[in-house]
Amino acid sequence: MTDDIYEMLSKSGYSDKAIEYFKSRESIGDLPEADQVTDLTGPCGDNMKIYLKFDGDKIDDAKIQVLGCPGAIASGCAVASLAKGKSLEEAKKIDLDALYKELEKLPDKKIHCARLAVKTLQRALEQYSTKMLEGNNRRMTGGKR
Ligand code: FES
Repeated sequence: MTDDIYEMLSKSGYSDKAIEYFKSRESIGDLPEADQVTDLTGPCGDNMKIYLKFDGDKIDDAKIQVLGCPGAIASGCAVASLAKGKSLEEAKKIDLDALYKELEKLPDKKIHCARLAVKTLQRALEQYSTKMLEGNNRRMTGGKR
């Protein structure tokens, strides 16, 4: 990233930490072995797709693909990094406050980007929980429901 882009993001209200997330793109990508893949489109038309790989109850790995603005990329990467290593129940507690704490600062008009990242993660966790519950119910009823 050039100094110009850094300057521009910094001036428009991104913290150094948020810029670092945007720059490193550490959690950007997919997981071919993911146990849960969920995508969501925000009201602005931007899209996020999250991949979660579980090891038992723990989120072993998380990746995200983002079609969106720097705020969406920074938020998506931060949300994936926050989720990594957490149990399902712990990850369900990742909310907008937790994400903001992690990112330190985003421009005010980028709050919906952070919201989209949290919603994408939470929807993925919900869908995964439902899948697990249905699997358990099927096992308990011997496949008859
Ligand atoms: Fe749409 Fe940032 S402008 S997520």
